[in-house]
Amino acid sequence: MNLSKGLKMHRIRVKALFDGAEQGQPVKVAGWVKSKRVSKKFAFLVINDGSCQTDLQVIVDSDKECFAKLESIGTGSSVSMFGELRKSPGKGQAWELHASDLEVLGESSSDYPLQKKGHSLEFLREIGHLRGRTNTFGAVYRVRNRLSFLVHQFFQGRGFLWAHTPILTASDCEGAGELFKVTTLDLANPPRNDEGGVDFSNDFFGKPTHLTVSGQLNAESMALSLGDVYTFGPTFRAENSNTTRHLSEFWMIEPEMAFANLRDDMLLAEEFLRYLFANIVNDCGDELEFLGKMYPDCDPQGIENMGSKNFARVSYTDAIKELSAVSSKFEFEPAWGVDLQTEHEKYLTEQVFSGPVIVTDYPKDIKAFYMKSNPDGKTVAAMDVLVPRIGEIIGGSQREDCYDALLDRVNGLDLPVEDLRWYLDLRSYGGCPHAGFGLGFERLVQYVTGMVNIRDVIPFPRAPKVIPF
Ligand code: 4AD
Ligand code: MG
Repeated sequence: MNLSKGLKMHRIRVKALFDGAEQGQPVKVAGWVKSKRVSKKFAFLVINDGSCQTDLQVIVDSDKECFAKLESIGTGSSVSMFGELRKSPGKGQAWELHASDLEVLGESSSDYPLQKKGHSLEFLREIGHLRGRTNTFGAVYRVRNRLSFLVHQFFQGRGFLWAHTPILTASDCEGAGELFKVTTLDLANPPRNDEGGVDFSNDFFGKPTHLTVSGQLNAESMALSLGDVYTFGPTFRAENSNTTRHLSEFWMIEPEMAFANLRDDMLLAEEFLRYLFANIVNDCGDELEFLGKMYPDCDPQGIENMGSKNFARVSYTDAIKELSAVSSKFEFEPAWGVDLQTEHEKYLTEQVFSGPVIVTDYPKDIKAFYMKSNPDGKTVAAMDVLVPRIGEIIGGSQREDCYDALLDRVNGLDLPVEDLRWYLDLRSYGGCPHAGFGLGFERLVQYVTGMVNIRDVIPFPRAPKVIPF
C-alpha cells in the first residue's frame, strides 16, 4: 500500500496525546471507531485506542483525498490516521484531530454487536471478547491494571519481596477440599490400586495434585528465609458458589511477615488498603468519574475518604453479641461458633461501623489449621477485614509457630502429616512468630469500581459452568 509520510510515523497513544497536546501538532494515532457521521463537507469519527477514558474526535474534510476511504469504515473498524491536532471549538472535548490521511487496518462487519445505545452488563458478559471496547469495561480494566501496580508499589516501597509461589500443588492450604484436580491419567481408564481406587503413583507427579487455593504455605517458607514477602497470583477454588462475590479463578495478594503478630498483621492490612484507596482515585480519576456517573455503587469520593479513615475493630465474640441483639433482621441466625454470613458482614460494616471493620479472634473450629491458638483454647489469632457492600475482602492470621500445637492440629483434623512435613519443619528450624493475610484482588476491584458482580471486574471470569472465552 502507498502510505503517506505521515502514516509512516510512529503512532502516539491517545492518552499521551492528550497529556502533552499542542496546537498544530502533527500526529498519527490508531484505534477503533465508535461512531462515524458523514456529511457533504466533512466527516466526524470518534475513536478510542484503549489508553484512556476520553475518545478522540477526528474530522476529515471532504476535499481530502482520503475522504473516499471512509466508505468502508463502520463501527468497530480499526483505523490509523495522520493529521493535525487542534483545539476543539465544540463542546465535550478539548482537542480534535484534523486528519489528512487515513488507513483502514481492519474492517468491521455490519453485525458488530456493540452499538451506541449501550448494553446491559449481562449481554456484555456474553461478548466478553469485545466488551473491553466499551466505556465501562475499558474503565474497569484500567482501574484493575493500576491497582495491580499500586499493590507492587506499596510492598516494594516497604521492602517486601515478591515471592512466586507455585500454582501446582499437592497440599490443600485452606483444608476446605475445594480443589481442581490436575492429572495426566486417562480418566476413562485410570490405573487402579489393590483397593480398586485410582493409583496416583502412576500419575504425572506420582500423587494427587491440584491447582492451588492459596500460596500461603509456600509464602511462609519464603518469609522464614527472607523476612517480608508477598505473593500476587491466580488461585483456584472448585467451590460451587454462584454468587456475585465468588470466582473459581481469582487473584490473591498474600503478604507474609516474619517476626510479626496479629497486631502487626492488622496494621499492615489497614495501611495497605488505605494506600490503595488514597491513590487509585487520583491515578484513575477519569475512569472513576465515569463509573461514578454510571453506577450507583461507585463512589470515588467515598473511596478517597476511606484512605484517611481508621478501620474499626471488633472481636468475633462481640460481633456475635451485636448481631444477636438484632437477629430478626437476618435470614441466618447469628450464633457463636458459626461463620458470619455475608448478610452479617454487611450489617456490621454498613449499619454498626459505617465503614471498614476488622473482626478478630474467630472460633478455632471454623478457621484453617495453620492459625495460632489463643490462650483461651477456643479461638484463634485470626482477622478478617470487612467492607461495606462486599463483606470479607481480606482474611488473615498469625500462624501457629509452636511445633507441638501445629502437629496436634494437623492430627486432630486428620490432615496428611507426611505431606505437611516440610511445613512442620519450618517450626523446628528457627521458627518464629509470623503472620500474613490474603486480599481477594477482584473483591478489591469490585469495591473500588462499584461493579455489583465480580464477573465484571476480571476480563475472562471463571465460575461454575462459565468458561466461554
Ligand atoms: O479467606 P481466604 O480463604 O484466606 C486464605 O486463602 C489465606 N490463605 C490467606 C492468607 O492468610 N495468606 O481468602 C482470602 C481472600 C478472601 O478474603 C476473599 O477476599 C478472597 O480471598 N476470596 C475470593 N475471591 C473471589 N472468589 C472466591 N471464590 C474467593 N475466595 C476467597
Ligand atoms: Mg476467609
